[in-house]
Amino acid sequence: MKNKYLYIETFGCQMNVHDSEQMAVLLSGVGYQLTDHAQKADLILINGCSIRDKAEQKAFSELGRLLKFKDKNPRLIVGFGGCLAQHLGEKVYGRDKRVDFVFGTHNIHQLPRMVDAVLKERRRVTQVAFSDKIESLGIFAPPPPGSLGAFVSIMQGCNNYCAYCVVPYLRGPEMSRAPEDICNEVEKLTRCGVQEVTLLGQNVNSYGQNTAFDCDFPKLIRLIARIDGIRRIRFTTSHPKDLSDGLVECFQSEKKLCGHIHLPVQSGSNRILKRMNRGYTLEQYLAKVKRLRSVRPTMAITSDIIVGFPGETQKDFEETIDMMEKIRFDSIFSFKYSERKGTAARQLPDKVPEAEKRKRLIRLQNLQNLHTQEKNTALEGSIQQVLVEGRSKNSDLDLMGRTEGWKIVNFRGGSDLIGTLVDVEITRGFLHSLRGKMIES
Ligand code: 5AD
Ligand code: SF4
Repeated sequence: MKNKYLYIETFGCQMNVHDSEQMAVLLSGVGYQLTDHAQKADLILINGCSIRDKAEQKAFSELGRLLKFKDKNPRLIVGFGGCLAQHLGEKVYGRDKRVDFVFGTHNIHQLPRMVDAVLKERRRVTQVAFSDKIESLGIFAPPPPGSLGAFVSIMQGCNNYCAYCVVPYLRGPEMSRAPEDICNEVEKLTRCGVQEVTLLGQNVNSYGQNTAFDCDFPKLIRLIARIDGIRRIRFTTSHPKDLSDGLVECFQSEKKLCGHIHLPVQSGSNRILKRMNRGYTLEQYLAKVKRLRSVRPTMAITSDIIVGFPGETQKDFEETIDMMEKIRFDSIFSFKYSERKGTAARQLPDKVPEAEKRKRLIRLQNLQNLHTQEKNTALEGSIQQVLVEGRSKNSDLDLMGRTEGWKIVNFRGGSDLIGTLVDVEITRGFLHSLRGKMIES
């Protein structure tokens, strides 16, 4: 049988990246092999993100580019999926009628059947219905050979309805996977050589709520930490309001839990936090950061910040700047507010002009660069435990690995060290990486 090739273009967060891994596994079961070359593909999937307008535009421009391959290969079929497809449903065909099928965030498991229907019946197929159980959550996606890290979905969906965010509408309500299933998957991953798992969910801190099993997020971390072969545990993403004392204790007692937390703050103004429906005040957020740092003083803290949310005045923005000065994040993702259909913020008055948003974003990013550089410089002279991922992009003589705090370190070393944990003395802190020297044991 002729090999059939699959090309997937993924946009957005780690959840989407993991969804794409699962799509590839499912389709390999019906004879499709992944390729990096779209021109070679028999099947192309676009896994789009719709969290902000810019992400949406990017996915559509890529769709247009990829659909052109149909001119040369009329047998090529193209599917559009993920959050963006969930958002638009059949309207995707209105954007480009050459799209063959559309699938939503709860319909990934139906992909082989959809592809089959398109090929056999030569008709369009659309599946965007939500279900009570997300079948694809438990699909085992073995990482590529030699990978040390893997994603594991522990929950999906969100019940928080932050005023700016489309995720609850696109991923549906929170659903957690049973702890036994998660632990089995982690054990299986260790047999493939994985040493570091990143637990994924829209709000991992509310893992286990409203379920029949008696397991919350701290308990799940402890269960995973007991698995031989797992040396590092990470997770993303965390909602500050649900960050419990139990999780803080995990950072104290569980040595395998990496000293890094991504804790999106969004704004430093209580007035804006309230309008965003975030469910915490700045003071509560600061108290949680303090507690985390009291149990792990070297903990890396990263965050998300939105500028120009409707009603954000100069004073509110200055409060965000003050908050950043107080906390000094290791790094942040920062965004201009982007209006999304169906969200509560769309109805709010006092929209901030685009030019003002841009100005605020630049100021915030310049400040963050200073803080990131300051944090990385402060690591000079320290010894960091580094999980060696492979050879460095910069030099053939160097290896590349990550610290517990998710920072890239480049250092001299032989390929035999790939896949091991080594101690590295940091000799120089740059804005986007660290330079180091391995300590021979
Ligand atoms: N506009 C700008 N940023 C947004 N985010 C989510 N929705 C929007 C929006 N409408 C950001 C938040 C979130 C991150 C994943 O994306 O900061 O934490
Ligand atoms: Fe969106 Fe808020 Fe849910 Fe995060 S917690 S996914 S920002 S609604």
